[in-house]
Amino acid sequence: MKKYTVTPAKQLSGEVKVPGDKSISHRAVMIGSLAKGDTVIENFLRAEDCMRTVDCFRKMGIEVDFEDSNVIIKGKGLFGLHEPTDVFDVGNSGTTIRLLLGILSGQKFHSTLTGDESIRRRPMGRVIEPLKKMGAVIHGRQRDTLAPLTIIGKELKGISYEMPIASAQVKSALLLAGLYADGTITVKEKEQTRDHTERMLEYFGASVKRDGLKIYLEGRHEFKGKELFVPGDISSAAFLMVAALIVPGSQIMIRDVGVNPGRTGILEVLHRMGADIEVMDERILSNEPVANIVVKSSELNAVELSGSIIPRVIDEIPIIAVAATQAKGKTVIKGAEELRYKESDRIKTTVHELKRLGANIEEARDGIVVYGPTRLKNGICQSYNDHRIAMISSIAGLIAAGRTIVEKVECVDTSFPSFVNTLNSISSSPLITES
Ligand code: S3P
Repeated sequence: MKKYTVTPAKQLSGEVKVPGDKSISHRAVMIGSLAKGDTVIENFLRAEDCMRTVDCFRKMGIEVDFEDSNVIIKGKGLFGLHEPTDVFDVGNSGTTIRLLLGILSGQKFHSTLTGDESIRRRPMGRVIEPLKKMGAVIHGRQRDTLAPLTIIGKELKGISYEMPIASAQVKSALLLAGLYADGTITVKEKEQTRDHTERMLEYFGASVKRDGLKIYLEGRHEFKGKELFVPGDISSAAFLMVAALIVPGSQIMIRDVGVNPGRTGILEVLHRMGADIEVMDERILSNEPVANIVVKSSELNAVELSGSIIPRVIDEIPIIAVAATQAKGKTVIKGAEELRYKESDRIKTTVHELKRLGANIEEARDGIVVYGPTRLKNGICQSYNDHRIAMISSIAGLIAAGRTIVEKVECVDTSFPSFVNTLNSISSSPLITES
């Protein structure tokens, strides 16, 4: 078992890049496999979660080659996948299992999906229920709501579906199933969420249209493989942003970060807290907005978060809680019960670990309350096998009174394998050692 020893930081400075976006990397493998011909992916996130997606498509006969920093997918078109001879194991990856459910529902074959202990606890009914309305046949534990799940591929039909929860995974699963449907599928979102699937399908030439919160996709239209650039993951960049904000005297630049409007809630929240963050050189690459982000350490103020901002910061709430420990006043995060269904119950795990480090933080039914600023102390933290929880304790450790230990940090590899090296590269002396 690996652990981090985190030393308090003096000042952070320099320029860095973060690895490719996790959500976009998953979609690139999936959509590239369903396209006709080669797709070359640049800056793919070669991390545990996305490699599970690669593995699943290899099991369905898709050739995936890694050459230097590129991944080449030899797509076989919408109807080119073949029946796997074994079950799919998605490991810890919620995006893999939920999006694959959509694709597998429309195949002419049988398949079974499972994953680690956390995946087998996470709710799948939210995807399965609308897929069944399209004609999908899926069986699983607890009345078809928990993995392992077996999918008996069927002819699907287009439906009109209004989503009861704001979830990009549910929306994407339905759109991917829609590729196989007879007719048009219409999905209406409850709130705006990341639209990487829509953008990528559009980029590849699928028949998709967007109108506010509604998305229309016409089924059974083939599209062709393309070159695609994956921007840096703003959810990984968020750890570095908060580190630079709370370590006095810091200034860093993070290059080529994806700034999809469904993901930039973190920039809006930190700006509202008084953060000195500049978004520069914004441009569009492969139909996704990309920018450089400059962050200077700042005096922060508390913030109240609820409503439509929540789905746009859902993965960043744990690191926002770290920023809130250094912000003046009472930070209140509401309407975020979805956090309880992530890799860990992130309301519980965030509160538990930051409390250990001396934060004045409380758990609410649907969110978190933090009183600041607080001088943090050092301690021994747990990851709960959740990458983002391991990383928030590490960032909090940068401003703790002494050395902090973070245990069971293997999970960091699911999204940010270069976390330690990247953080150490913006400090004059090593901040984290692994052992
Ligand atoms: C993701 C969507 C979000 C997010 C997850 C990745 C995606 O999940 O938390 O890390 O790639 O679509 P939900 O759709 O469950 O909100």
